[in-house]
Amino acid sequence: MAIRNIREIGDPVLEKNCKEVKEITPRVQELIDDMFDTLYEADGVGLAAPQVGILKKIVVIDTTGDSPIVLINPRVLETSGEQTGYEGCLSVPGKTGQVTRPNYVKVLAYDENMESFELEGTELLARAIMHEMDHLEGHLYVEKVEGELQDIEDAEEE
Ligand code: NI
Repeated sequence: MAIRNIREIGDPVLEKNCKEVKEITPRVQELIDDMFDTLYEADGVGLAAPQVGILKKIVVIDTTGDSPIVLINPRVLETSGEQTGYEGCLSVPGKTGQVTRPNYVKVLAYDENMESFELEGTELLARAIMHEMDHLEGHLYVEKVEGELQDIEDAEEE
């Protein structure tokens, strides 16, 4: 278990497509464990493998601090509704901006035993799933911001 270095906007690794995970090797398991350590250390809600420099389709999410979710090779099955709200990213420190996302999403993914499962999320979880899945295709939320990308302190004063 270790904290990994979080890559920041401008790093080309954040703009690349990730590869599917074929099997859970000890190396992949270590990566997942490290991603959770890194997520909790940074006080984040989600982290995708390219954010620690690895181009694999792996996402970790925890919207409450005690509900860890791993999504391996996730695929969107269904979305509905709409929500607009502030979003941030550990790869874009100190910034925030308004992004519109589906309010509901259902995904198909694999867990750490490569068993497939479906996950449904609404509100913050739906937002986190969509945000992290964008990372797997080389996209950052800043591309989707409506209006200006703001400093977090300025946004909190509004
Ligand atoms: Ni992000």
